[in-house]
Amino acid sequence: MSLSNNTNILGKYKIVEVTFNLCVIFLEEVLLEYFPRNYLNQYISICQRNPSPLLGYILVDIETNKMVAGVLARRQKSKGITNYENDVIYIEMLATKSQFTRQGLAKGLLEEIGDLGSDMGVKRIELHVSISNAAAINFYYKNGFKMETKEKDFYRNVKDYQGSKIALLLVKNLTGT
Ligand SMILES: CC(C)(COP(=O)(O)OP(=O)(O)OC[C@H]1O[C@@H](n2cnc3c(N)ncnc32)[C@H](O)[C@@H]1OP(=O)(O)O)[C@@H](O)C(=O)NCCC(=O)NCCS
Repeated sequence: MSLSNNTNILGKYKIVEVTFNLCVIFLEEVLLEYFPRNYLNQYISICQRNPSPLLGYILVDIETNKMVAGVLARRQKSKGITNYENDVIYIEMLATKSQFTRQGLAKGLLEEIGDLGSDMGVKRIELHVSISNAAAINFYYKNGFKMETKEKDFYRNVKDYQGSKIALLLVKNLTGT
C-alpha cells in the first residue's frame, strides 16, 4: 500500500505529504511538549544541514482538520556498523501530540514510512534515540526494531543537552528478516 492510497488510519485520520518547512514547524510545536526549546532548535538545524532530501508526512484528524502526529525521514546511506551497503530510510523525527498518544498514531506513520521505503526498493529503516527516551525506545522495540549499536556521544553537537548523550542506533528490516 503506498502513502497516497492511505487516506484512513484508525478510521479517523488521513496522511498528508507535506513540505520540509511545514513538517518542521508542526514537529517543533509537538516536540516542545516533550523537550526544551534550546536543544530542539539545534537538533533541527543539524538536521537541515544534511543535504539528502527529506520526506515529511503528517496525520490529520479528518473531522477537525487538526494535525496530530508527524514524521520526517530521508533516504540515505546506512549509519550502522554492519557495512550495510544499500540505502536506508532514516527517521529524523517522529512525534505525536501528547494528548493523542498511545492510540497507534505513531505506529500508523511508521507503517506508512515502511511502505514508502518498500515502494522505493529500500529494505531497512534506521534511527537514533537517546537512552533517556524510554517512551520512544518502548515504541520502537514494540514495532520490531532492534538495537544495532550504542553511540556514546551522539548528541555532542547539541549544547546543554539534558538527556543522556548516549544514543541507540535502532534498525528494522522491511523484508521481515
Ligand atoms: C514515542 C512516540 C512517538 C509514540 O507515539 P504514540 O502515538 O503514542 O505511539 P503508538 O500509540 O503507536 O504506540 C504506543 C506504544 O509506544 C510506547 N509508549 C508511548 N508512550 C509511552 C510512554 N509515555 N511510556 C512508555 N511507553 C510509551 C509503548 O510501547 C506504547 O504501547 P502501549 O500503550 O501498549 O504500552 C511519542 O511518545 C512521542 O511523540 N514522543 C516524543 C517525541 C519522540 O521522542 N520521538 C521519538 C524519537 S525520534
